[in-house]
Amino acid sequence: EKGTYPHYMLKEIDEQPLVTRKIIQAYQNDSGNLTIDEEIISAVNDADRIYIVAAGTSYHAGLVGKQFIEKLAKIPVEVHIASEFGYNMPILSEKPLFIFISQSGETADSRAVLVNVTKLGYKTLTVTNVPGSTLSREADYTLLLHAGPEIAVASTKAYTAQLAVLAILAEVAGASKGFKHEFDLVQELGIVANGMEVLCDAKEEFEDIARSFLSTTRNAFFIGRGIDYYVGLEGSLKLKEISYIQAEGFAGGELKHGTIALIENGTPIIALATQESVNLSIRGNVKEVVARGANPCIISMKGLEMDGDTFIIPEVHELLTPLISVIPLQLIAYYAALHRDCDVDKPRNLAKSVTVE
Ligand code: F6R
Repeated sequence: EKGTYPHYMLKEIDEQPLVTRKIIQAYQNDSGNLTIDEEIISAVNDADRIYIVAAGTSYHAGLVGKQFIEKLAKIPVEVHIASEFGYNMPILSEKPLFIFISQSGETADSRAVLVNVTKLGYKTLTVTNVPGSTLSREADYTLLLHAGPEIAVASTKAYTAQLAVLAILAEVAGASKGFKHEFDLVQELGIVANGMEVLCDAKEEFEDIARSFLSTTRNAFFIGRGIDYYVGLEGSLKLKEISYIQAEGFAGGELKHGTIALIENGTPIIALATQESVNLSIRGNVKEVVARGANPCIISMKGLEMDGDTFIIPEVHELLTPLISVIPLQLIAYYAALHRDCDVDKPRNLAKSVTVE
């Protein structure tokens, strides 16, 4: 039930801190350490390459998940759009593991790949929010998101839940091979949940941002580098699907190779700056578009902020920034849609789960 909320989407955005805490609990053992079924961890660690297959928002979660798995478990990962994979199968490694990311567990495009690779004899793992869903039943293994039902068509809490579960999977797989790093994921995810709360409490600011940057525009661009780029792709999908503003996510450095031609006076550019290693270069990209008249909305992270930034998100571990930097983008999309009188929870032409190929 949406209770006092005007829309499920807003309720589900607000649930993200709680869902993150639930996930930490669900994946902790009695001594408080993160744990995942040993069979799943051996399937991950036996693989010489992981193929993530997903659609839409879940595909965007996969792009970030690749970073987690490569950094924490040191296994190479490829991320594929489900609907492309079937007829455009890459050359597979000798011991692949397939990970299907699907909130609903019912996406036909993803299922088609699952059926196909199962026939070929490969191991499969589904990461889903719905126990007993088709993709869960048909895969060898399942990891659950524990996000509670997601009703709004635009996926929000499932995305951050997917990221949290993928981070835990990567961490536990890496730890079982003896890889150590300087941070404690339980603690860092706790910091993430607190940061999410701060952002959910800043709704009025995001409503103002939506009003000043997006109320009349025809289009909008999201830019970032590294994982900020992947979050920008998700931000642009959120914005286009519910507000019908044409939006695109771009890697900051790629703009100059063509897209910059689209920048006009007043074109909104939403830039993410949460990564120290690329902070100066993304800001260079912002200058390039501002010089062509763009209207920049810069969302940076505490510690990396600069004069003139539009919003500063709380500091979290640099690998986990997508879990919180997406929240401003979700809320900005929500308010942009609201200001344009769009049906936020049921955007035109879309269904919650896409069960046709
Ligand atoms: C976007 C959205 C879709 C889904 C996609 C995959 O907000 O919800 O892009 O992410 O249709 O759905 P699942 O994750 O259920 O396989």
